[in-house]
Amino acid sequence: MPSVYIKTYGCQMNERDSEAVAAQLVAKGYTLASSEVGADVILLNTCSVRDAAEQKAIGKMQNIAAEIRRNRPEVVLGFMGCMAQSRGQQLIDKLPDVDLVIGTQKFHRTVDYLDDILAGKRTKVVDVGEEQGSEATIREHILNGNTAENLVTAFVSIMQGCNQYCTFCIVPYTRGEERSRTIPDIVAECRELIARGVREITLLGQIVTSYGKRDIPIKDGKSGFVQLLEAVHEIEGLERIRFTSPHPKGYGDDLVEAYARLPKLVESAHLPVQSGSDRLLKIMHRGYTRERFLGILEKLRRIKPNMGITTDIIVGFPGETDADFEETLSLAREAKFHNAYIFKYSPRKDTPAAEMPDQLPQLVKEERNARLLALVNEIAASHYENYVGRQTQILVEGPSKKNSARMMGRTRTNKIVVFEGSERHRGQLMDVKINRAGSFTLYGDPAILNLD
Ligand code: 5AD
Repeated sequence: MPSVYIKTYGCQMNERDSEAVAAQLVAKGYTLASSEVGADVILLNTCSVRDAAEQKAIGKMQNIAAEIRRNRPEVVLGFMGCMAQSRGQQLIDKLPDVDLVIGTQKFHRTVDYLDDILAGKRTKVVDVGEEQGSEATIREHILNGNTAENLVTAFVSIMQGCNQYCTFCIVPYTRGEERSRTIPDIVAECRELIARGVREITLLGQIVTSYGKRDIPIKDGKSGFVQLLEAVHEIEGLERIRFTSPHPKGYGDDLVEAYARLPKLVESAHLPVQSGSDRLLKIMHRGYTRERFLGILEKLRRIKPNMGITTDIIVGFPGETDADFEETLSLAREAKFHNAYIFKYSPRKDTPAAEMPDQLPQLVKEERNARLLALVNEIAASHYENYVGRQTQILVEGPSKKNSARMMGRTRTNKIVVFEGSERHRGQLMDVKINRAGSFTLYGDPAILNLD
């Protein structure tokens, strides 16, 4: 059977989509290749959030066409996901070696299209249409090389799309309107994963705080998303629940209180703020103020003082003044994020911000990026240092990526801990004593020898 190599760019949603496509291909008898060398089919699952991400995937495809396709003309090349959605046929016009362009609502069609192309029934396929119910088609799993014993953590897609239309963001155009899966459907998928040994589930969506907004009525003051958390929380054998990404606008008290009520919901939150300036938040169409954002953090920390809070911040949005940027710096200081992903503003096709006056020079973006990064890293380091000498619980996921002789796990607050361990620790909840903090990694020893 043909072998397929899938390379994924961008967010966890993309990783999850690639994983589902891979599982569907394996179910049809395809094998998975670990690199493009020798693969019969090469698929790039793309990201459009910034121009750099698009250029990276285009550059990669150009290399593949020049180096691989030239020697093996029968190799099938495809783009999937967000850039495929936004650029469609243009990608084939630009890169005539490409055979397949699959949009974000058509991942589940990949197998059929590949079958047809490989059988010579079709040549070029572009499918970027909308499809009703596509949010529920990303349900197959393939984890850690497809061996059931290995599964510890898994992503579950709960919704697709976003209706927020932030002025900088391409996601509503690449992912479409918000569509949510049902609670029973999601719970069934989680149960299946747990039966296969998964202990931790991360619920995924572009804007999870909008989950079920149209279909699930508020019950006892609880949103559809909180009702979903409760339903997943009930599942026996599940140890930990995470989710990403929420939107501050939809971060109600019901969600804050869920952290007090649901012990499996771990003390970790990724809450994108984008800017510390109220003026910019408004132009970005974020729907909250700096004060409201900081208020959410305060409430969360009142319930869980050690909550690991991370964020996304954009620097160099059109018209961002020195004063606006100072507000972002001061928010970062006040919010004391455990980490922040900083993005230099990148104009995106068809988004209002791309047309705004006062686009800032690259140099200003670079400079602000560097200043904010230094501050964020300094605050993050102090959080990591705080762990040294303390005992904390981790869930062991497997060998450390950097040094496979060691094992790694995560704290409930989402910090990576590397320790001397072995395969028998995989999947265990373990107490470790932290000896040392590196850059975004903690090093520790098992606090109690756990021999079974
Ligand atoms: N330019 C730079 N960063 C962006 N993001 C989204 N759109 C853009 C853009 N046009 C960032 C936001 C978002 C993260 C996933 O990507 O910070 O939270």
